[in-house]
Amino acid sequence: MSIAMKESLAAEVKDHPAYSPGLEGVIAGESALCLVDEGEAGLLYRGYPIRDLAEDGTFEEVAYLLLFGHLPNQKALQDFSAQLIDQAVLPRLLDVFLGAVPLGAHPMDIVRTGVSLLGMVDPDAADHSRDANVRKSIRLLAQLPLMVATSHRLVNGKPRVRPRENLSFTENLLYLLTDRKGDDQAKAMARVLDTSLTLYAEHEFNASTFAARVTASTMTDLHSAVTSAIGTLKGPLHGGANEAVAEMFIEIGSREQAEAWVREALTKKQRVMGFGHRVLKKGDARSAIIQQHAESLSRICGDHRWYEIATAVDHIMQEEKGLRPNLDFYTAVAYLLMAIPRTLYTPVFVCSRIIGWCAHVIEQQDYNRLMRPRAFYTGPARREYVPLDRRT
Ligand SMILES: CC(C)(COP(=O)(O)OP(=O)(O)OC[C@H]1O[C@@H](n2cnc3c(N)ncnc32)[C@H](O)[C@@H]1OP(=O)(O)O)[C@@H](O)C(=O)NCCC(=O)NCCS
Repeated sequence: MSIAMKESLAAEVKDHPAYSPGLEGVIAGESALCLVDEGEAGLLYRGYPIRDLAEDGTFEEVAYLLLFGHLPNQKALQDFSAQLIDQAVLPRLLDVFLGAVPLGAHPMDIVRTGVSLLGMVDPDAADHSRDANVRKSIRLLAQLPLMVATSHRLVNGKPRVRPRENLSFTENLLYLLTDRKGDDQAKAMARVLDTSLTLYAEHEFNASTFAARVTASTMTDLHSAVTSAIGTLKGPLHGGANEAVAEMFIEIGSREQAEAWVREALTKKQRVMGFGHRVLKKGDARSAIIQQHAESLSRICGDHRWYEIATAVDHIMQEEKGLRPNLDFYTAVAYLLMAIPRTLYTPVFVCSRIIGWCAHVIEQQDYNRLMRPRAFYTGPARREYVPLDRRT
């Protein structure tokens, strides 16, 4: 870029104070779903503090709350849970697709393509009404755990399993992913997994939700918006971080090696996964909640290795960079203890965030305005077109 163009760009940027690279600090819309606040309010889903929902509620209640705007009574929750079991069925096209997935395919690619296919054959595919979108949301919430687990089971030569009627949504997710159910350890694991799903369910205008809302703002179908969101969540700066954190713990190997590993990474200017947040600069309220659960699960499982590595890394990062862990950091400890296959960590995140995305898509379309921002042009100044036969 020439000096003159740089100067003109700088002047234009000055004239447009709303411009912010990465949209940092920009209010890009309105939402009644979630309040992300670093102050006293903390994180609220539709007005309810996240700690209350995580400690006293269940993910199924939270999913209902996000979708319908109020907490369910017992009857409503029973009906909702029954729908989640009934609708956990994959159409034939999905079976064909999952059977044809190439070995080594990234599970997030499978989930993204799978949701796109589900959109094509959804019973309400041609209906874009609000009611149909609510039905599609419940169906997706029910179908995703089965899709994630079945694709993994097929690739690993394991038999398919179906969700069981006597298990909750989260107990079924644990069962489908790890074959565990019923015993005391499995119950403790399901409780921690449920908390992590509640914490993952919604977080305002994060990158994937924003992508879903941009797509929804064209008044396209819900599955298209969710497909955009899944592709966005896959990135290591967003949802991919939980898997990367687990890889890091495995590479570090022991508490004793944590300090040297982190110092070397920082010297090489590497990002340490699971730290930092675009909005939460003073710390992530969700991290403290999942940390407590990761610690207690370590005790229950009699395996303290991952938690010890994590706390050592956490300590050094605060000392060296003043950075606090985000939700992905201690979640990785919990998922390692549950023996959830590592490549499925981000798909598990999808199994929860799906409800946040769907609620945002519905909200966006309730009060829609097409999203169409502007860009500062930084390309070459006007130049003359030279026909192909005269170009050197
Ligand atoms: C999430 C994230 C993208 C937010 O970044 P951001 O708001 O754009 O912050 P910046 O990239 O401007 O970083 C600010 C400073 O903190 C540092 N920093 C931020 N996150 C860091 C991390 N995880 N490890 C090391 N340094 C980090 C940057 O290097 C930068 O330092 P500098 O000013 O000395 O150059 C970033 O913290 C990150 O990459 N984290 C790791 C991935 C992750 O855990 N993602 C899940 C998010 S919930």
